[in-house]
Parts: sequence; C-alpha cells; structure tokens
Amino acid sequence: MQVSHVPEHFMMLCYKARNHWHGSADLQTKEGAMPEPKTHNATLTGKVAIITGAGTQGEGTGIGRAVAIVLATEGARVCLVDRHAASAEVTLTQIEQRGGSAFVAIGDVTQREDCARFVAETEQRYGRLDILVNNVGVATPVLLDARDEDAWARVFDLNVGSAMLMCRYAVPVMIKNGGGSIINISSIAGIRAQGSLAYGPSKAAMAALAREITVLYGRQGIRANAIAPGHVLTPLAMSLLPETMRVKRKNVGPLGIEGDVWDIALAARFLASNESRFIAGIELVVDGGVTAIGAMTGNALIEAGAQEEQV
Ligand SMILES: NC(=O)c1ccc[n+]([C@@H]2O[C@H](COP(=O)([O-])OP(=O)(O)OC[C@H]3O[C@@H](n4cnc5c(N)ncnc54)[C@H](O)[C@@H]3O)[C@@H](O)[C@H]2O)c1
Repeated sequence: MQVSHVPEHFMMLCYKARNHWHGSADLQTKEGAMPEPKTHNATLTGKVAIITGAGTQGEGTGIGRAVAIVLATEGARVCLVDRHAASAEVTLTQIEQRGGSAFVAIGDVTQREDCARFVAETEQRYGRLDILVNNVGVATPVLLDARDEDAWARVFDLNVGSAMLMCRYAVPVMIKNGGGSIINISSIAGIRAQGSLAYGPSKAAMAALAREITVLYGRQGIRANAIAPGHVLTPLAMSLLPETMRVKRKNVGPLGIEGDVWDIALAARFLASNESRFIAGIELVVDGGVTAIGAMTGNALIEAGAQEEQV
C-alpha cells in the first residue's frame, strides 16, 4: 500500500529538518538539558507560596525543588513542605544562596492536621497566601488484583487527596487577600493511558480538581490550573531509566528532546503570576509535543531516530 509509506517518509524528512534546526538552537541542546533560568523579573514580589514535595528524592533537583527555587528567585516568599527534613533543607539553602526567602515545614500531606498546620504557619509567618503548588505524587504500579487495593487507595490519597486537603486550608486564606493561584502537578499519564491503573486516573483527577476549584471559588479570585509534565529528566528518572529508554523518550516527541525540571518550573512561574490572570481551569501540557501526536507518528519518530543514530 503506497499510502502507508507516505507518513513514514514524511517523518524522516521532518526528523532531518529538526536536527538541522537544533544546530542553531541556543536554549536547548541535543541532550535536552535546559539551564536554570538566570533572568528574573520580580513577577512574584510580595506574593507568598506553598510548595508540597519541595525536596527531591535522591541527589539533584526534582520538580518541586525547581519550582520552589524559581518562585523564590522571582520574589515570592515560600513555605517548603516535605516529609523529609534533610531534603527540604537542601532546597532552603539553595534558595537562600540565591537571595530568596523561605522556610521548611515538615509533615505528611496526606494528613489533614499537617496540611492545616502548613497553611497556618505560612499565614503566621508571612501574613498571607497567594500561591499553592500541589506537587507531591507517587507512581506505584497498580493492577486490578485485589491485593493492590491498598496501593490504589494510597496513590489516590497521596496524589489527589493531598491536593484537595491542601486546597481546603489554603483557599480561605487566599480569599482574605482577594484570591490566589493553585497549581496541581498532574502528568501526561492522566491524558494518555500508560498502563498505570491508579497513577493515570489520579493525575486526571488532579486536573479535574483544578477545574472544580475554579468553578467553586473563581468569583472569589481563585484560579486553579494543572501542569502536566511529560518525559522530564528528574533525579529519580535518571536513576531508574536505562540509556536506551532515555533515547526513546527523547525521540518519541516531535521536538526530540527530554524535558527538564526547569521547563516545569517556568510554566509554574507563569501560572503563579498575574500575567496569567485570565487563565483558569486548564491543564497546561509541558511535554515537547508528545501528547499532540498519534502513536504511529511517535513510533515512526523513534524508528527514524534509531536509524539516524546508526548512520
Ligand atoms: N518525573 C517526571 O518525569 C514526571 C512526569 C510527570 C509528572 N510528574 C509529577 O511531578 C511531581 C514531582 O515528581 P518528582 O519526581 O520531581 O518528585 P520526587 O519523587 O523527587 O518527590 C518530591 C518530594 O516529595 C516528598 N514527599 C513524598 N511524599 C510526601 C508526603 N506524603 N508528604 C510530604 N512530602 C512528600 C518527597 O520527600 C520528595 O522530597 C509528582 O507529582 C510526579 O507525579 C513527574
């Protein structure tokens, strides 16, 4: 069938054109690493933020830490929530080294008393609350097996239950000063099935929660949105993924690069700032175009990439 060859040929042409373009790109490298942003515009000066999961599992910078650093360097005063003190302290030190203000609040975001305390401590210290980033998340594999029932409940508690609890205590404080911005870190796994029975649905629920919060509290100035990261290179991903998988993750998207934690942090900075005042109830996909294309196209891009690497 002649027709079926056309898209693949087209894919190869696109792939070559893309690699040509990469040669002159200044922000992205072939390795996909995006540097920490160095320019700041004080778009968050005067604002106060809470970020859950502001530490990082393992060495390096995860999404929560990157978001905390970017919001703080942009002028926000930040409450760094994590259940691991040592990890949150690393984030605090990095913020202070950059001249920002923050404090650490230790506890478990699945516990309502802890969530209430994080918000109360933030209000006590800084007098207001403008931004909440619900970043804690877990991707435990779950099947339909009855033995996985506890794991199912745990994934939902940790991902979407914690976001709801944080909103419960944060929203009334935000409303006192005219509203605020809530950002749920979801995932493209909530948009496209990946064989993760609990993770995907829990992340889809985080995007839905943002919409519901917006409808219920929009008149009081609350905007809630989600950010769906795609294939982002976090320390955990780096430690778990073999090199072959990382190459596939890069090649499957139209841009042919892996995302970085700073890509997510910059999207969060925008949704946190007044620059996005008319954006509410959306899910901002930050994935290099992976969810924009079909499975066959992604597969053709992987194959074209593999062929090119052999040349
Ligand atoms: N890494 C990716 O490629 C990717 C892709 C899509 C979505 N995400 C989402 O991004 C978010 C961050 O992922 P990451 O890999 O950067 O984070 P991470 O696994 O490094 O965890 C961040 C922090 O959360 C803390 N934490 C965990 N459970 C907690 C709890 N119950 N209470 C308080 N703190 C807790 C951990 O101690 C850790 O410091 C997650 O929601 C994840 O689902 C990641």
